[in-house]
Amino acid sequence: MKEDDTMLICTANDYNGMSRKAANIISAQIIMKPNAVLGLATGSTPIGTYLQLINWYEKGDLDFSFVRTVNLDEYKGLDPNNLQSYAYFMKTTLFDQVNIRPVNTNIPNGLETDIDFECKRYNTVIKSLGDIDLQLLGIGTNAHIGFNEPNSAFEKETHCVKLSPNTIESNARFFENEDDVPRFAYSTGIKNIMQSKKILLIASGKSKADALYNSIFGPITPSVPASILQLHNNVTIVADEDALSIIKEKGLL
Ligand code: PGA
Repeated sequence: MKEDDTMLICTANDYNGMSRKAANIISAQIIMKPNAVLGLATGSTPIGTYLQLINWYEKGDLDFSFVRTVNLDEYKGLDPNNLQSYAYFMKTTLFDQVNIRPVNTNIPNGLETDIDFECKRYNTVIKSLGDIDLQLLGIGTNAHIGFNEPNSAFEKETHCVKLSPNTIESNARFFENEDDVPRFAYSTGIKNIMQSKKILLIASGKSKADALYNSIFGPITPSVPASILQLHNNVTIVADEDALSIIKEKGLL
């Protein structure tokens, strides 16, 4: 464990260990504030965390009935029933399996073609919930958070993003072929993320090692979006040995 004023790095042995530690932190948040606003993420990294939360819910240890959620992003153009949409992912991976009220869950509307309308609408939703108590983040191999790709302005709120070739390639594994990956997405911005009271970033695997090292120890720059987190005053990083391998090789942990 490394701790400085603002960033706590917790090491886990592997993906399962990372998932349990992350779920513990989210669980503590819900126990301490039953109507907490959780900022949620999609992707392969949080699946184990959500499974652990479901398990504790099934045992009667967690109650989601007052929890409110706001997701980071959604592909533009995908119907919520499309198997690759983040709305579908959240429904099947978490929401349908716990006692959260659907009305308390929020995801950008991928079908909205009026970009200005949707971005304003989603920002208003986030503001109406008050501050996000705990924002869960994965990290892209290019250090994106949400779909805030390298070189997007740090100050942005919800916006429509043109996905980078790196992200399209990484996410192609979920689609039949790369051409099916949507080229645009709605994403909350760095500003929305930075306004969260607490941030929990999770990372697993060697493919994240560079991004993690650059984000925590490199210069703060829009070319490494997650590096902005160095300026947040309450960030916990839970990562496995592989994701921390470069940081450890350099003797920084
Ligand atoms: P992953 O994606 O969890 O599927 O690796 C993380 C991200 O792109 O934020």
